[in-house]
Amino acid sequence: MRPGWYDDAMSDAYRIVPTTEDRIEGFHAVLDAVARERRYLALLEAPPLEETRTFIRKLLQTGAQHLALDEAGHVVGWCDVARWQRPGFTHVGSLGMGLAAHARGLGLGRRLAEASIGAVRERGVERIELEVFASNTAGCALYERLGFVTEGVKRRARFLDGRYDDIVLMALMS
Ligand SMILES: CC(C)(COP(=O)(O)OP(=O)(O)OC[C@H]1O[C@@H](n2cnc3c(N)ncnc32)[C@H](O)[C@@H]1OP(=O)(O)O)[C@@H](O)C(=O)NCCC(=O)NCCS
Repeated sequence: MRPGWYDDAMSDAYRIVPTTEDRIEGFHAVLDAVARERRYLALLEAPPLEETRTFIRKLLQTGAQHLALDEAGHVVGWCDVARWQRPGFTHVGSLGMGLAAHARGLGLGRRLAEASIGAVRERGVERIELEVFASNTAGCALYERLGFVTEGVKRRARFLDGRYDDIVLMALMS
């Protein structure tokens, strides 16, 4: 994986970097901000910081990929692919991601996801799966552009703020 990229003017301010110990607090803050939007993630707020720290440490010990989007030293996005540990399923990873509102729609999500997918494929992950709310237009568009295919829909899977939402199950095979 390249440690960062500077190859077009729009992206000059951003770098894709590993979520190292010193970036966990920043990751926690952006996760919390996206969760509190109440639209895109199943979480409505981030777990406590210490819980997040423990979770990331464990994730990294199990061959997962956790990347951060850095803007001038601040984490403004993340993409993780958690590798399944159960025998028979270690070729499978689950992808999750999010960007701070101001960083969306600039092509950064695509590049972050591509970097994560490339890195886990090199480690032998052959199937990457994810769940996305059907109302998440940008999310669905991004995953389709990346080649993810819909495998199923959980109908009316969430009822929140007076509205039902379906959950789309998608997967990408290498
Ligand atoms: C979903 C998310 C990660 C996408 O990242 P992004 O940086 O905004 O998306 P990009 O700018 O990289 O766009 C990727 C592709 O999706 C398309 N796209 C992006 N936003 C779109 C929108 N609102 N409507 C239609 N297409 C859209 C782009 O045209 C682009 O396709 P292209 O490369 O062929 O031009 C980002 O919007 C986000 O963090 N949203 C909130 C959190 C979230 O939804 N997380 C995912 C939960 S499953």
